[in-house]
Amino acid sequence: MKILVLGSGGREHAIVRALLRDPSVREVHAAPGNAGIAGDVPVHAVDATDATGVTELAGELGADLVVVGPEAPLAAGVSDALREAGFTVFGPSRAAATLEASKSFAKDVMDQAGVPTAAAHACATRAEAEAALDEFGAPYVVKDDGLAAGKGVVVTSDRAEALAHAESCFAANGTVVIEEFLDGPEVSLFVISDGTNCVPLVPAQDFKRIADGDAGPNTGGMGAYTPLDWLPEGFTEEVMAEVARPVIATMADRGTPFSGVLYCGLALTSRGVRVIEFNVRFGDPETQAVLARLRTPLGRLLMDAATGCLAGVRSLDWRPEYAVDVVVAAEGYPDSPRKGGAVTGVEEAEALEGVSVLHAGTATGPDGGLVAAGGRVLAVVGLGESLAAARERAYAGVERIRLEGSQHRTDIGLRAERGQVTVPAGEAR
Ligand code: AMP
Ligand code: GLY
Repeated sequence: MKILVLGSGGREHAIVRALLRDPSVREVHAAPGNAGIAGDVPVHAVDATDATGVTELAGELGADLVVVGPEAPLAAGVSDALREAGFTVFGPSRAAATLEASKSFAKDVMDQAGVPTAAAHACATRAEAEAALDEFGAPYVVKDDGLAAGKGVVVTSDRAEALAHAESCFAANGTVVIEEFLDGPEVSLFVISDGTNCVPLVPAQDFKRIADGDAGPNTGGMGAYTPLDWLPEGFTEEVMAEVARPVIATMADRGTPFSGVLYCGLALTSRGVRVIEFNVRFGDPETQAVLARLRTPLGRLLMDAATGCLAGVRSLDWRPEYAVDVVVAAEGYPDSPRKGGAVTGVEEAEALEGVSVLHAGTATGPDGGLVAAGGRVLAVVGLGESLAAARERAYAGVERIRLEGSQHRTDIGLRAERGQVTVPAGEAR
């Protein structure tokens, strides 16, 4: 199989590495990729959201499968253009990608499918926003209704701040979704679907805030780990039965079948599992940890999903180890990341046992060295026999990386390692 991967982040680097481990994959290409991806496979300077450019590239390469990494090309209809041109694509149509691109659409689908989620109101004016804030009370949750790279959500107990976020979305001609606050730990579960059938990957936990102790603003994600020993027995099966299968059946009924990865962002609240959001692609940085443990050949799996052949795939095969990844971000991330800083130490980190380094915002600088070219620069992945061992390896790798002013969290997986992650006790689960 010859596979073209679209995207340029750590998620795509993880996908490329996993595809290279699949014996049925003969060749992998990426567009546009990054400096790390370019070290592993040929990269092509084509913007992933440019449907014409991507379709031409797939044709020149004779790609058997195109894997769309990020949400932007999906929302831009790149998968539809590729399918129209006769290519096999892993990733949903633009219509199905609305599950991520519009939070109010996702709420509609969940309502129709009977999927548990936070009660919410779509608001288009200040008066509507005020009424919704007062109905739900603090803490307030205000979400930009469009794609915002994980940064469009404000969770605050300050009513003025909540209202100011809503006003800034209205000022940009947008609308907001205001919803009830969900207590309890968050879990990401990725479900691979062929439009009808689906199979889960392993649950992972992401750390969205920039600083230790979940302080500071939301980011795209600062680290992740898997497996989650603190999850209740039967968690994955419960999410498949109550969330993933009903949503996939509903999307098919609506005439917009969902094929690709359904990313279920969940909260384990005192009242049971609730959906926080859906994404329509693999999560970043959870994928870097999850795929580090995948034994099932990824190319075959994604091809089966893309061709409607998942019926026979009941479960996937996983390494027993724990995986932790820690994101190294540039100075100033998430507001105004500083680009161009020299990055060193990647080879030393990768030389450590159980450590790999996946690139995100990296490029080759004018003097041929590696430089930061985005907010999240690298993810350092540690694999180990316990969560403690995996953490130790990931952080030993992070120690080797040098980038002036860089930021990383020191507590990825720490509360789980200490047995401090708990699901709130509830009455009516
Ligand atoms: P989203 O873009 O919807 O994933 O939201 C980003 C982050 O905001 C989530 O990962 C949560 O940490 C937080 N969040 C979103 N919705 C809620 C909610 N209803 N209750 C509590 N936290 C939330
Ligand atoms: N890790 C959060 C996301 O990929 O949206």
